[in-house]
Amino acid sequence: MKHLLSLLTTTPQEIEELLNLADQLKYENKHGISHHRLKGQTLGMIFQKSSTRTRVSFETGMYQLGGQALFLSSRDLQIGRGEPIEDTARVLSRYLDGIMIRTFAQSEVEALAKYGSIPIINGLTDFCHPCQVLADLLTVREHKGHLDGLQMCYIGDGNNMANSLIVGGLKTGMRVSVACPEGYDPDKQVLDFAKAYQGFRLYRDPMQAAAGADVIFTDVWASMGQEDEAAARREVFEGVYQVNKTLLSAANSGCMVQHCLPAHRGEEITADVFEAHADEIFDEAENRLHAQKAVMVTLMER
Ligand code: CP
Ligand code: NVA
Repeated sequence: MKHLLSLLTTTPQEIEELLNLADQLKYENKHGISHHRLKGQTLGMIFQKSSTRTRVSFETGMYQLGGQALFLSSRDLQIGRGEPIEDTARVLSRYLDGIMIRTFAQSEVEALAKYGSIPIINGLTDFCHPCQVLADLLTVREHKGHLDGLQMCYIGDGNNMANSLIVGGLKTGMRVSVACPEGYDPDKQVLDFAKAYQGFRLYRDPMQAAAGADVIFTDVWASMGQEDEAAARREVFEGVYQVNKTLLSAANSGCMVQHCLPAHRGEEITADVFEAHADEIFDEAENRLHAQKAVMVTLMER
């Protein structure tokens, strides 16, 4: 594995190996076993959008692995003033050992990988959020003991999270049901990929998608960069595309609820459901640290 650009380009075996390594690193972390597997290395973290979890977990993870991380805001970098990503990639490759980037277009992440000569990690684009979904799969596997044969459900916008959950869920043997409003479907590339899987279903009705679910995911109605559309989106999603008690009544008993965060209580998830599943949701947030360390070790260890 040279980069983590999208789960579409990551094999099921690579995903499983990342999850196994994340489990091991988590165990070592909990038992005070230090693992300086990236000693002396530097990760550059380019952010063109806000972040709490991604920034802090990558930075802490890199420190725990014996390396250091540099926070590079596009507001301060020359990228923000129009320096091409192709040139940035070639310059940063001369200083750094790896780059994590959070940006808008997937093509920018691909360009970094194409023009740079060091591992590139996608820390979220409009298209996908692979690091988050590795943490999500890790959390579900921890709680349920396995992934194969489980029913995953996603309710809401067919956004970056939906795209990565569909691919990650199907590649790890889960059945995946999604409910999105018309006009807000997952990306066509992802739907084309999912067509090959018997276990994939796309619904308009959330209750149908939640039937028999072992884990239900949701995400915000308007993602970063879609602030102007928030009001129009609210009209479409409100009152229907929400994880609430009624929706959970259609799921299997012991159904988990997951949210990548930040969550908007009263919108895509009710406050009571969020609090009832808070332990699972914050395990998911914690697992960003362990999953990302596994990604960095896999890509950067010499
Ligand atoms: N879930 C997630 O990626 O969170 P941040 O936007 O805070 O990084
Ligand atoms: N879909 C959300 C995920 C945030 C972690 C966004 O892109 O803003």
